[in-house]
Amino acid sequence: MSTASIHAGWRAEDMHGAVTPPIYSSSAYAHDDHSSLKNLFARRSEGFAYSRSGNPTTAVLEERISALEGGIGAIAVASGQAATTVALCALLEPGSHVVASELLYGGTTEFLDDTLADLSVTSTSVDPWDLEAWERAITPDTRAVIVESIANPGAQLVDLDAISAIAHAHDVPVVVDATLSSPALYRPGEHGADVVVHSATKYLCGHGTTIAGLIVDTGSFDPRRCPDRWQRLTTPNRRFGVTFADDYDRGGSGLLSYARAKYVTDFGATLPATSAQQILVGIETLDLRMRKISADATALAARLHGATGVERVNHPTIPGRPDAALAARDFPHGTSGVFSLDLAGGETAAAAFCDALELFTLAVNIGDARSLVCHPATTTHSHLREEQRRACGVLPGTVRLSIGLEDIEDLAADLDRGLTAAARVGNDRATSAAAAARAGHDRGGASAAASAAPDAAPTATASPDALLARQG
Ligand SMILES: Cc1ncc(COP(=O)(O)O)c(C=O)c1O
Repeated sequence: MSTASIHAGWRAEDMHGAVTPPIYSSSAYAHDDHSSLKNLFARRSEGFAYSRSGNPTTAVLEERISALEGGIGAIAVASGQAATTVALCALLEPGSHVVASELLYGGTTEFLDDTLADLSVTSTSVDPWDLEAWERAITPDTRAVIVESIANPGAQLVDLDAISAIAHAHDVPVVVDATLSSPALYRPGEHGADVVVHSATKYLCGHGTTIAGLIVDTGSFDPRRCPDRWQRLTTPNRRFGVTFADDYDRGGSGLLSYARAKYVTDFGATLPATSAQQILVGIETLDLRMRKISADATALAARLHGATGVERVNHPTIPGRPDAALAARDFPHGTSGVFSLDLAGGETAAAAFCDALELFTLAVNIGDARSLVCHPATTTHSHLREEQRRACGVLPGTVRLSIGLEDIEDLAADLDRGLTAAARVGNDRATSAAAAARAGHDRGGASAAASAAPDAAPTATASPDALLARQG
């Protein structure tokens, strides 16, 4: 993994001996004669014509991620969101159906629920831990299932081998968003995934500098197994004049050729060469970073478990988590650096916690060298329906942490600062709620205590004494 992270896809002799991949800042590529460009457009030869659909710097990144995932090819696109959009569009048509884990990044759920619904694609979301639910949800129109290797923000793991076996029994390809794990911790293709998508913005970049997305074909999906179902790949394409599935005979990916020719080009979801180079630099240290980040996140989760004011720590190694066995079986190098805390005092406590942190940066990103914090219910997951938020473990008191590369003791001290501030507002609110209750009692009313704390978690408003007891 570490060797491929630095060398895969790179041939210095093609680039005047440059030691690191140069940035090809060119919109178009000159050709010697008329037939050269003609053959390229007719897909009879390979090369570069115009950077919207391919660039030499971006091509190095594509080869590198394909090697790291053990795939047969990859496409780099403008963002993680574009990766999911392009990958799904290549598999779907109007009337298709998608089965999706209910533990997905908010933007993916919104894409399925809103944009794809506008295009007459329906979706069913399922509890990823309920294998029978996956089986029940698949219909004759299902053309993809989608799941995250490690869910954002609750760090839930899935039994991808089992989910893939169910999907493949119906000849349905499995798309895995592997943003949180990265190939340093988990290779979804080894567990049945047919297509892997990444928000390279996160761990692959590693330094919060660049938005980017990647799509990898792991090589297990072959549309020729059900040619009628995937006619856009298995018959001559009206627009391009080729049968994309023929690429499989040449060791390429028909699915990705189709996705690049049609969707990357039509949507214009191109990754700039400068961005590709930044992701390549980030990947060079991926393996090292993921091991430290995962170890530190596990240690911090253990320290936060049972801390005053913390109702739950959402991390696979916390006792009682049903995915603990999956962590041990499938994630020997750790489960990444993102996890969440459910604070007892609801949104008010979460706000106090975030505002008190001095080292963690309040920002809606993950996978940076800097530790980050955010409040998903009012940011990344704010456009979802309440029941969707609850299904993916986003409560009013949930805060998401993305552990970075700082010293773990400094991070622990900062988290203590946050918890102290959250407890302080809890105490203030409990005191004022108790005073309001006494006043209400004096007036013969019972509702004053509840209205003193309108957005607190139900347990906090229901019983100030219980809250005080939890806060020690
Ligand atoms: C798991 C996951 N997938 C996809 C995305 C979208 O990626 P991008 O912001 O690069 O478009 C995100 C962004 O937070 C994410 O966390």
